Amino acid sequence: MCGIIGYLGDKNASKILIDGLKKLEYRGYDSAGIAVVANDGIKCLKSKGRVADLEKKLLEDPIEGSFGIGHTRWATHGIPSEINAHPHLDCKKQIAVVHNGIIENYNSLKDLLIKEGHKFVSETDTEVISHLIEKFYAGNLEEATIKALKLVEGTFGLAIISKFERKIVAARRGSPLVVGIGDSEKIIASDVVPILSHTKKVVYLKDNEMAIITDKDFRIESLDGKEVEKKVEEIKWDVGQIEKKGFKYFMLKEIFEQPEAIANTLRGRVKDGKIKLTVDFDANSIKRITILACGTSWHSALIGKYFIEKISGIPTEVDYASEFRYRDPIIRKDDLAVVISQSGETADTLAALREAKKFGAKTLGIINVVGSTIAREVDSGIYLHAGPEIGVASTKAFTCQITALLLLALSLAEKRGLRIEQDVVDELLSAPQKIKKILGSLEDIKKMAEKFKDSRDFLYLGRGLNFPVALEGALKLKEISYIHAEGYPAAEMKHGPIALIDENMPVLFIVPKDNTYEKIISNMEEVKARGGKIIAVVSEDDKKISKLTENIIKVPPCHQYLTPLINVIPLQLLAYYVADLKGINVDKPRNLAKSVTVE
Ligand code: AGP
Repeated sequence: MCGIIGYLGDKNASKILIDGLKKLEYRGYDSAGIAVVANDGIKCLKSKGRVADLEKKLLEDPIEGSFGIGHTRWATHGIPSEINAHPHLDCKKQIAVVHNGIIENYNSLKDLLIKEGHKFVSETDTEVISHLIEKFYAGNLEEATIKALKLVEGTFGLAIISKFERKIVAARRGSPLVVGIGDSEKIIASDVVPILSHTKKVVYLKDNEMAIITDKDFRIESLDGKEVEKKVEEIKWDVGQIEKKGFKYFMLKEIFEQPEAIANTLRGRVKDGKIKLTVDFDANSIKRITILACGTSWHSALIGKYFIEKISGIPTEVDYASEFRYRDPIIRKDDLAVVISQSGETADTLAALREAKKFGAKTLGIINVVGSTIAREVDSGIYLHAGPEIGVASTKAFTCQITALLLLALSLAEKRGLRIEQDVVDELLSAPQKIKKILGSLEDIKKMAEKFKDSRDFLYLGRGLNFPVALEGALKLKEISYIHAEGYPAAEMKHGPIALIDENMPVLFIVPKDNTYEKIISNMEEVKARGGKIIAVVSEDDKKISKLTENIIKVPPCHQYLTPLINVIPLQLLAYYVADLKGINVDKPRNLAKSVTVE
């Protein structure tokens, strides 16, 4: 999941490329590089580590030139190193390529090219593309690229330049690419974030399409060379939304944006107690729902299952997208496949969507990024309108996904003539207020983070709707603080994990005042009897828990269906403060990237 950028215009390209790469670092950050066409040919600068390290090198060795490409890497083939950083050049250093994706047949292509005398310098799959284009280059970059890509198997988002022609060629198969159309400049990038500060006018590439960008115009062609008509669209976000606005990290900003983000997900979708969701399938024809997602989105899918089955009565299954796609699933025409993805680019989720469509299922997307690949391939969708989520650890997307899933469940029930609980709808509208209250009193959570930041392991336990919240809390902690954390159904603890309990194992319980309350209390007693350290997230009117632990985080009481929205907030904050206290870069945790566009 790398970040690609290209610039062609009337300004100094290297500075714009570096600024753009900084905005793309959430897609991958183990090494970075730029290549600019200067008067005397292609100048290429690379660095292991962050874009800031590359910027330092550029200050010592400035590059003139007004068109070029850049890349920030999440390594797939070849260790993170300067030599493996993109861009990659051909033998004569006349062509430069940046790539996002995986070339599956790169070994055989590399052998072929080496036999023809090409010399390789890196361990990457990408480098074969620059040598293939060199092999076919006869004065026209897009023609050489088309010939080269006919031999390539796998996925790519590519930006390519040559010293002979003032143009950028970009091609896409499986990794996103967007072209920004400015007045006197054009930008190609993996997503809209680095384009926003230049223009809001964009063209989205689809799979097997190519953009040829010059000063005077841009053309879109299919990879077999046919002209493709495209409409220029307008980005809905503004620059302010992609800046930190005084927060130390994007993750903290996005945690605090949740009241507004949830309000945006709800906007226009609840009127006079009724749900207004436009979906283009007949709710009465749906016999079964399968929800497909990865990571945090899979956790919200588990919550969606509870909602849909309890409220609308439709049998609902949840599957890891990566498992579903290889399982020869049984999908029928009267099934509805719901795919959940913040980025709308997750390769496994996209592949699972295509698998479900192959069997004729109706499809619905719950997506945040407008115009993303999954958003374009579903039959209908519910956009979260949460605004850009830059922090690698997903937060506001999760709570907005839960909100969208509750709306979906209520809408399905209405469409099937079932009565819906009015207090659920009213409480949903008041959720942002309740979350604001939690965000207004962080002292207990900060104290908990200080107390438990050096733990080696953590157990998160919840029941019913809050079991997926336990999974999500554990994922947040492990992915940004590197502490091993497991989420478990509380009742399952006695079937194994209880063996882990000792004075070094903090156990965080989610204890809503619902039908699981008494059972959870018994689980807490079991942990206490074994010397385990208990942390409890409880409703603020709870009177019992203080007898079991002093480590209490209080949240406003709410309807059972809203408990996942409310209970996850302190878990997000706990993970954030622990990671920050450990001096970890919360927005760029090691080995991770924001959008997983490789399989
Ligand atoms: C969550 O904090 C992680 N960053 C990751 O699990 C993420 O949820 C997963 O990769 C799915 O991403 P998507 O929602 O964009 O498809």
